[in-house]
Amino acid sequence: MPQKIIIDTDPGVDDSIAISVALRSPELEVVGLTSVFGNATNEITAQNALRLVELEGHGNIPVARGCDVPLVVELESIASEVHGNDGLGNTHLPAPKGKPINKSAAEFIIDTVRANPGEVMLVPIGPLTNIAVALKTDPQIVPMIKKIVLMGGAVSIHGNISPVAEANIYHDPHAADIVMQAGCPVVMVGLDVTQQVIMTPQFFEEVFKVKNPATNLIKRILPVYQAYHDRFHKMGGSIHTHDPSAIAYVINPALFETRSVPVFVETIGRCKGQTVADEHRQWESRKDIEVCQGVNSAGVLALIKERLTR
Ligand code: RIB
Ligand code: CA
Repeated sequence: MPQKIIIDTDPGVDDSIAISVALRSPELEVVGLTSVFGNATNEITAQNALRLVELEGHGNIPVARGCDVPLVVELESIASEVHGNDGLGNTHLPAPKGKPINKSAAEFIIDTVRANPGEVMLVPIGPLTNIAVALKTDPQIVPMIKKIVLMGGAVSIHGNISPVAEANIYHDPHAADIVMQAGCPVVMVGLDVTQQVIMTPQFFEEVFKVKNPATNLIKRILPVYQAYHDRFHKMGGSIHTHDPSAIAYVINPALFETRSVPVFVETIGRCKGQTVADEHRQWESRKDIEVCQGVNSAGVLALIKERLTR
């Protein structure tokens, strides 16, 4: 049976690649997308989520609109220089045909988990606000959630949006700290591994040899994201593989090495969004999560390429 997943997303260039990989993977059943602010406003990310499922011929997959703002902190200005002011590399694609369903992201998550107890994985690849709202609204779903596999955090490596914080955690640190202590199995696919998986211009040259809706879209939305990586990381056309790495983990966790450790999130001050692994259990007790610390980069890239060029 394919693994049921809900992708909570802020598309977003790398979100788009991740969603295309997921929709092209027979091991997965994408039962829905839930949108959140982050790479663009939630208004835009909801529209982009609709565009992505329609583009891949999956317009039947429900898209539920989530939170527009973080739980506590102020909504930071949207970094349009990273993903473009439309979230998709300033391509300004035609409007989607469909509309979000008449449920919030949290309601969709709660209803879907309750209808499929023990079977659904939540795969948040944006700020964790929707997940936190679902957990706080209906704490009884926690034992029903099979696993949360999140893209976010930076434990043994510098941050990207600040010297210590990764963007998804930084945008809503209170939500992230709620998820880190949710109590169901949680896997953190953070910068520690996603910055080791590098998609090079040669990788994309191979991928673009195959023409399909996914590769055609990625070719159009990629340049803005490549330019950001070159400006900020001096990567000359290569990009880090953030969100697609979380999908790769769901498909084949053996591609990653993890360690079990409790993780805390700083919520205030200059280190807001920092994810701290309490290696020696010196702070108050909380359940361990699985933190990805190693990755078979070639294996992840081969999986992504194989799916995109199917
Ligand atoms: O830090 C990388 C994360 O922030 C990715 O999810 C990217 O899409 C942005 O949301
Ligand atoms: Ca994202």
